[in-house]
Amino acid sequence: MPVLIRSEAGDALPVSLESLERTGARLLGQYGLDNAELSILLTGDKHMAELNRAYRRKSGATNVLSFPMSAGEEPGGAGMLGDIVISVDTARREAGLKKITCHRRIERLLIHGFVHLLGYDHERSPEEAEIMLAEENKIIDNLKRQERRNAMVNLAINVDHVATLREARGINEPDPVTAANICELAGAGGIVVHLREDRRHIQDRDVRLMRELVKTKLNLEMGASDEIIAIALDLKPDMITLVPEKREELTTEGGLDVAGQLTRLKEVVDRMKEAAIPVSMFIDPEWKQIEASKKAGATFVEIHTGRYSDAASEAEADHEFDLIVTAAEEAYESGLRVNAGHGLNYLNTPRVAALETIEELSIGHAVMARAIFVGLDQAVREMLDLIRLERANRKTGPATAAFPAP
Ligand code: PXP
Repeated sequence: MPVLIRSEAGDALPVSLESLERTGARLLGQYGLDNAELSILLTGDKHMAELNRAYRRKSGATNVLSFPMSAGEEPGGAGMLGDIVISVDTARREAGLKKITCHRRIERLLIHGFVHLLGYDHERSPEEAEIMLAEENKIIDNLKRQERRNAMVNLAINVDHVATLREARGINEPDPVTAANICELAGAGGIVVHLREDRRHIQDRDVRLMRELVKTKLNLEMGASDEIIAIALDLKPDMITLVPEKREELTTEGGLDVAGQLTRLKEVVDRMKEAAIPVSMFIDPEWKQIEASKKAGATFVEIHTGRYSDAASEAEADHEFDLIVTAAEEAYESGLRVNAGHGLNYLNTPRVAALETIEELSIGHAVMARAIFVGLDQAVREMLDLIRLERANRKTGPATAAFPAP
């Protein structure tokens, strides 16, 4: 039992011991200390003040104390890493001041105590304090990434095609804004629109209304032109996805060449960061583009699944799929959040949805095509069912590649 957790802080604990135990195990795992033992005690201010006096000659309670077990040895070398004692009373007060939940605060204190057990000490010097804080932030990032890896994949629906139909008649129906609402009611976790420079489908009015009405997440797909950048900065979507844009193309054709225009794109990312808008780069599944996206400061990459979707043979699809798997893993491991999309349909989506490094799928055409026959609500629900089934199956067996054709 690597994590031994115990509470003497009363019955009404503002934290789940199971959850803290899991966090403790993940902390040990991050440092390859899976076999080491970590003991966690939740207590109150009274006991904490006694410990503080006895071991540090300080008066009053403190939030967390660490007692390394193997003084002079490698942390965890002797099997027992040490004890962490947390005062729930102090954590509760600090959580109130920081306006976070007490659970979050206790988790944060656990991480702080753990880093002390590893030998870091912020009290030694300001430089060490910085190093220790960086180590804590690294752990928090890793924990968040682990949580995402285990989470359900999100489905974002691209409603451009509804606007294409509207523009074909030059009237005001069908309305992509209504479509966005229906998609959300059916369970979509995000709405994507591409505001093209030529305004061939989505119009400025659409994105303005969606900014107000979309309740999940509005992802504005866009080329990196000055005009559209200004609109995005004003609109403040929940995120933007930078795509290459050519006037003569029917749809986005290839991934963005981030490596080839790194300086310019980094500038765009910096401007978006100032406005707190996360940026995703729509890229082909290539390491060069992942690396460049990271250098540009992107938060996400969206891996272009077009070549996989358009593959003419099973062998070609397998080859393209392998590229997606590798790229998603590489991007994830380099700290990027990973989305995927383009050309995904009811047959080829499950395989991609099963990849645990992928956080979100962006799907448009297939859902709208099916919606013509079964209705938009049902088309979205069917895609969601497929994705959920695949994620649920992930633990029990290999990904299926097919879905009964309509
Ligand atoms: N992701 C990006 C970046 C796109 O440009 C598009 C097409 O607009 C999609 C996803 C959705 O592709 P599809 O309509 O083929 O599902």
